[in-house]
Amino acid sequence: MLTSIKTHSLTSEGQKLGMMYFRVAIILFGAQLLMGLIAAIQFLAPGFLFELFDFSVARMVHINALVVWMLYAMIGATYMMLTEETGHEGVAIGLGKLGFWVLTAAVTVVVLVYILVQVGPGTESTLWLINEGREYIEAPRWADIGIVVVVLIFYYNVFMTYMAGEKTGIMTVMVANLLALAGLYLAGMIYTDNISMDQFWWWWVIHLWVEATWEVFVGTLAAFALIRLIGAKREVVEMWLWIEVLMLFGSGILGMGHHYFWIGTPEYWWEIGALFSALEPVPLIAMFVHVLYDWGKEQGVHEAKGEPKGVITNGPAMSWLVLNAFGNFLGAGIWGFFHTLPQVNIYTHGTQFTAAHGHLSFFGAYATILIGMMYYGVQKAYGVERMKSTFKSKMGMVLVTFGVMGMTIALTIAGYEQVLVERGEMGATWNAFFTAQNLPWYIQAQLWRAIMGVVTFIGFIYLVWDLLTIGKASQEA
Ligand code: HEM
Ligand code: HEM
Ligand SMILES: [Fe+2]
Repeated sequence: MLTSIKTHSLTSEGQKLGMMYFRVAIILFGAQLLMGLIAAIQFLAPGFLFELFDFSVARMVHINALVVWMLYAMIGATYMMLTEETGHEGVAIGLGKLGFWVLTAAVTVVVLVYILVQVGPGTESTLWLINEGREYIEAPRWADIGIVVVVLIFYYNVFMTYMAGEKTGIMTVMVANLLALAGLYLAGMIYTDNISMDQFWWWWVIHLWVEATWEVFVGTLAAFALIRLIGAKREVVEMWLWIEVLMLFGSGILGMGHHYFWIGTPEYWWEIGALFSALEPVPLIAMFVHVLYDWGKEQGVHEAKGEPKGVITNGPAMSWLVLNAFGNFLGAGIWGFFHTLPQVNIYTHGTQFTAAHGHLSFFGAYATILIGMMYYGVQKAYGVERMKSTFKSKMGMVLVTFGVMGMTIALTIAGYEQVLVERGEMGATWNAFFTAQNLPWYIQAQLWRAIMGVVTFIGFIYLVWDLLTIGKASQEA
């Protein structure tokens, strides 16, 4: 399966390396979904795979695989656009390939250890060898250090290629932002045995990734994709990008206060977190408008010239890009805003409402556009001028999106019930937690989440099938 996407139409070694990253990304995405399904079944039948594959492990692998596949796809997307944006081949792609294999071997070992050593005391040596215990970025120390080395190789490639080639606005933002993105990982490696301090630094990685540097990263991807897919004007796209960068960092950095409400940090974070995180949806609206406006404008320009409207060079990539504009706004902007004020968050904190937001935001803001970039890669790999959506592309898109949206709604209902019963009515006691989880609203919602998870998984199968076949099919068409 790994090699069934041919890359011989690619002349750039950097882009071939990008495709290698995409292949592993999609495999890890599949693993993520399988783990999610196991965890979802365990919500309904707690004895399922008990002591064979515990919930704690399924959940951990689910969300770590999520982060890792997205980082893989981000590196892949960067290598895809690096050569095209700079007009220069990557400077040290051989070294980059070595880094890829080292990273992939390390990820495999880490996952195997997670699965083989499921329970036991946490000690100094488990920290180094098994698990660091920091949600989403649980890799043990040895792997942390390996990851830093591989990322340094990657960054060296990006930076030196940028210096050697053309310096577009998009690449300038990319290079600066990647430095921040990679540097933040170090904040998750600081060792402390004080849980408040631990959480304080941990959020520097998680929040400043997804609400600052990753958002800027997808901003650069969207800018690049709009130029390539619909021929949008570079000046317009880059102007938007600078505005988005300004707004994203403006609200995202202090918006981190919305995680400092209840972990033992000083109370002034209530005001700071409330104000700045409430502003976070603004740049997300800008990104939404940006994509739809540019698309509409390009269509209008062609129409005015009397040309046919269909100027999209890659149908599925463009559809996923539009889904990204909607998904980012809904999942991060709306579902995030719902619970971001401390007056609301005191009731919703850590309920299934949080999980609803986590699913829709990660999917809407990141999975969508990264899948779009995979389609872009396939188009390049097969050297086709114009790639149209197939039946499978549409099935993949519709089922995955419908499935994730369905899970989000189900979890929102479960969260609502927890807020009313567990928090509002029963005062957030231990007993309240279990009472709320045993009421029909909660159980039915969890059942629907599992059903919608299966829908998502079927969509994923279509997606992979399409990625493996669409290149050849459009070559023949
Ligand atoms: C694409 C961007 C985003 C992603 C991927 C994302 C993802 C997540 C995830 C996974 C969590 C749960 C973390 C945990 O395990 O404790 C979370 C929590 C939270 N997010 Fe977001 N988020 C995004 C943007 C936003 C935005 C824009 C806002 C506000 C406007 C927001 C507000 C919150 C709040 C308040 C919490 C804490 C929930 C609680 O107290 O339980 N998020 N986010
Ligand atoms: C087959 C589909 C999926 C199923 C059945 C599923 C199921 C689950 C389950 C059971 C949990 C643990 C929730 C908890 O501890 O209360 C979870 C957590 C999570 N999943 Fe999924 N998931 C699926 C797909 C996805 C996708 C596509 C994404 C994002 C792209 C995603 C992102 C997350 C995140 C961020 C969390 C942590 C949320 C939090 O703690 O707030 N999942 N998922
Ligand atoms: Fe946040």
